[in-house]
Amino acid sequence: MYYSQEVVDEVLANTDIVDVVSAHVHLKKQGKDYVGLCPFHNEKTPSFSVIPGKNMFYCFGCGAGGSAITFLMKYNNCTFREALQDLADRAQITLPAPNYSEETKKREQHRQDLLAVNKEAATYYYKLLRSRKGERGMKYFTDRALSAETMKMFGLGFADGARSDLTDHLRKKGFSDELILESDVAVFNEKQGLHDRFFNRVMFPIQDVRGRVIGFGGRVLGDAKPKYINSSDTQIFDKGRNLYALNLARRTKADHLILCEGYMDVIAMHQAGFNQAVASLGTAFTPGQAALLRRYTKRVLLAYDSDGAGVRAALRNIGILRNGGLESSVIDLRPHKDPDEFIKAEGKEAFQARIDSAENSFFYELRILSQSYRMDDPASRTAFHREIARKLCGFADEIERDNYIAAAAEKYFIKTDSLRRLVAQYGNANGYGTDTQSGAGERSKTFRSGRNQGESKDFRSRIPPGDGNRESKSRAPQAGGNGAAAARPFSRRLAPGPTRAQKALWEKQCLLLTWIIDDPRIFPQISRYLQPDDFDGEIYVRTASRLWDQLRKDPEAANAASVISSFETPQEQEATAAMFNSHLEGIEDKNDREKTLRELVFFIKQASLDRMTRAGGASSLQTLLTAKQQLQSLRSANFHL
Ligand code: CTP
Ligand code: MN
Repeated sequence: MYYSQEVVDEVLANTDIVDVVSAHVHLKKQGKDYVGLCPFHNEKTPSFSVIPGKNMFYCFGCGAGGSAITFLMKYNNCTFREALQDLADRAQITLPAPNYSEETKKREQHRQDLLAVNKEAATYYYKLLRSRKGERGMKYFTDRALSAETMKMFGLGFADGARSDLTDHLRKKGFSDELILESDVAVFNEKQGLHDRFFNRVMFPIQDVRGRVIGFGGRVLGDAKPKYINSSDTQIFDKGRNLYALNLARRTKADHLILCEGYMDVIAMHQAGFNQAVASLGTAFTPGQAALLRRYTKRVLLAYDSDGAGVRAALRNIGILRNGGLESSVIDLRPHKDPDEFIKAEGKEAFQARIDSAENSFFYELRILSQSYRMDDPASRTAFHREIARKLCGFADEIERDNYIAAAAEKYFIKTDSLRRLVAQYGNANGYGTDTQSGAGERSKTFRSGRNQGESKDFRSRIPPGDGNRESKSRAPQAGGNGAAAARPFSRRLAPGPTRAQKALWEKQCLLLTWIIDDPRIFPQISRYLQPDDFDGEIYVRTASRLWDQLRKDPEAANAASVISSFETPQEQEATAAMFNSHLEGIEDKNDREKTLRELVFFIKQASLDRMTRAGGASSLQTLLTAKQQLQSLRSANFHL
């Protein structure tokens, strides 16, 4: 972290989270808190609340939660530092200069310069399209039915026939030849010197997720080849790590993103209201792009051309998406060639219907596979069934595998039991989940694609992961997922997940931490028995440490937002927010509540002692004895509320 916790706390103390959130979400007062529709998942009834008393927000629907910093990080998809800067600006606090090395500063300045060239070039092309010189470009876009509004939204432009207009313009603006060349809007040869890379083309500026122009695609007006020219990769433009229109699509309310092949497809789809469309950048889809998508969604629909090349690309990308931990389905555009043509011919309602009936990618693969077998030939048919069984082994999760077995059997008229036996045969020989070619998603769920449906809303499904599945910390305790188990990547599924006992313990830890945050006066009584190390799970220990530190300084003042903001990733912040939002319902009687509190502390202490005992030599005899004594005295302790 570049800034000290003091700086972060200072900014948060001067931030009203209700102000920050209500700039983006319509909030209604409810008691001391505020509620509204969650901006991080689709919902019709509000489960998103802002709790001014804790300076935090939390969504009981999808588990998103945290401080004002978390909110901005998630909403704007920005870094911790950017969110902090944003809040500091609002609060009129000047942040101390972060400690960058000279080299970092230089590199950053160079990136800024490259961005400035691209921005200037985009503005130049944009204006040219709307001027006399741009009439041909304007006609081209208009003939392709793009509205002025759409052209504006995508910043479309035009490069006319003159071969050094842009270069001259940039020079006049004071950019050096080296920089112009490096940004790749110009090229150099002996005969012409430095001259424009794009001419006689309509221009598609390519933006990063934050909307900064990082490169261009340019299309010929007619049928000449090559149809498109794209900027080469530069220090700010990495084609394998950016996606066209993701800056717009990341704001969609849809529960999925649509991946298409072309710029024009994306634009046509957005114009028709499908603002969840993105495309790769004139190169094949990459694992880096899958990882990028995974930051915004769990589910991707492929809207690829319906020709042979499109099918091959779709098959290839299904695998990449799967390895990236994404579920996918395929949109059938037949009899039309691509989304652009489909929408022109049949309209948006028809396209929506195709979205709704998109085919689960596993069945898509099977269907394409089936085309190379002859079902009327017993030998070929058997080979096909074996192939299906082999692919089914890719699902490591037994329930999931079973669901797919049943569905595949029905689809291809195989007896379910026979198919199940066949799968077991292959599985016993090779293990499950080993077939990377096949249908098992890294974390593909059931093939019914609806997310979150019927998911329980109580805190139990949201407990942050403890040590038991450390890997999920880097993977996010799923906003919208169902807690620890779903967050575990496929490759580890075979390793045991958290046991029921462990989950019960985490629940209790959440309850206790929430209780302390809500009523910090109980802290001195609790800290007599419990230390942060008594908590199970690294993230709990770290959270408790922060909280204990705070409360030791000032036993009256627990600051949830500050604890949350001591974590840097939104995933950790969310996990911590969840710890401060579990509630005991229905125990009204004071004595009962006091008894419950003692039981909570006892339970956590006992678990801690058990772990210590099991660890044996790791803890000293003295520590062990003290813990035992504390546990003993807890039996008869009285807690006062
Ligand atoms: N592409 C490219 N270079 C080419 C051809 C295609 O970079 N010579 C990339 C572009 O990103 C293009 C995508 O591949 O958007 C898909 O190609 P295609 O389907 O041919 O183009 P469309 O975007 O559909 O354009 P149009 O509708 O104008 O033909
Ligand atoms: Mn097209």
